Amino acid sequence: MKQTSIFTAMKFENDLILRAARGESIERYPVWLMRQAGRILPEYRAVRSKLSGFKELVETPERAAEVTVQPVDLLGVDAAIIFSDILVVPEAMGLTYEMIEKKGPWFNQTISCEEELKFAQTDFDIEDRLGYVMEAIKLTNKELGGRVPLIGFAGAPWTIFCYMTEGEGSKTFSKARKILYTNPTLAHELLNRITEVTIQYLKAQIKAGAHMVQVFDSWAGILGDVQYAEFGLKYINKITEAINEVPVTLFAKGAYNSVRDLAKMNCNTIGVDWNMKIDDIRNVVGDTRTLQGNLDPCVLYSSHKEVEMLTNNMLDSFKSKRHIVNLGHGVYPDVDPDKVKTFIKTVKNYEIQY
Ligand code: CP3
Repeated sequence: MKQTSIFTAMKFENDLILRAARGESIERYPVWLMRQAGRILPEYRAVRSKLSGFKELVETPERAAEVTVQPVDLLGVDAAIIFSDILVVPEAMGLTYEMIEKKGPWFNQTISCEEELKFAQTDFDIEDRLGYVMEAIKLTNKELGGRVPLIGFAGAPWTIFCYMTEGEGSKTFSKARKILYTNPTLAHELLNRITEVTIQYLKAQIKAGAHMVQVFDSWAGILGDVQYAEFGLKYINKITEAINEVPVTLFAKGAYNSVRDLAKMNCNTIGVDWNMKIDDIRNVVGDTRTLQGNLDPCVLYSSHKEVEMLTNNMLDSFKSKRHIVNLGHGVYPDVDPDKVKTFIKTVKNYEIQY
């Protein structure tokens, strides 16, 4: 699978996650948390409170690097993930967003017709508009000094399409889904454009120093499998075909019926949410891909003892060494960091059977 000499040659103090992604031998399961940078740490909020808000933090490489490294120092995770957001891509294409406190993202302008495709540009230089992310990646690697690998990321085209057409979060994303029925030509044009920019963006992150990349399709589960194949998988496949430099993780939340197709793609790791059963997914995927997940994020609201027990139950359900431990979705903002530490400690103490 994917590995390039310059990356395999890179020496890390701890490269467990890269070995697990490639299916190589590991002494224990690696562990990190989606949304570990930001959200739960008081140290993150302290950095953020000195700035005007979330966007300034994302766009200030020194501060973004600082909060990226915090979970490595404070929680002991086996990988860092660059502090940024999937929404920097639509912004670079021409749709500015605001992050509204306690509400989430908000786009003033959205795309609902051909005329508005002028807000979905592709003919720009990635470094020009997103150079701050690449700068943050370089600074983070300096601060990490090879302790653990750094994960780069982007939203999958379908999830980015949802925000570009809906303009904000939604329970149903019915505006986004309406377009698939009323104007599929527009949908495919927009998805193609997002895909093109995303490939360039991921390649720029890798060039700047991302050692693996994850594609987040947070809203995969709101499409039926036939529509997801046409408007989701098709474009994810274009991305995986283009990225050969580093291991790739695909996290398509809720896409139970599409796991078989995801596992045929040029990727190393499949993200699994907590509604999926590891056993079933392993049966479908076989042992040619690594699985990442899948503890229910709400487990971290229970007692330390229960966190330990439920984490061990999950680990006992693994029948292979091809696992990266994570939650089944991002960590929730009001979770006690000490519970996260118990989760991580439990994984680190677990004796691997394979
Ligand atoms: O994983 C990490 O820690 C790296 C940083 C990261 C952020 N967003 C920082 C962030 C990553 C990987 C993301 C991905 C992201 N952003 C996704 C896909 C993953 C998922 O959870 O499904 C999505 C759908 C978004 C869009 C987004 N960004 C929303 C809906 C919101 C508001 C609500 C929320 O999730 O907190 C954000 C804001 C955001 N992105 C915050 C952080 C730390 C909170 C902003 C703050 O500090 O107040």
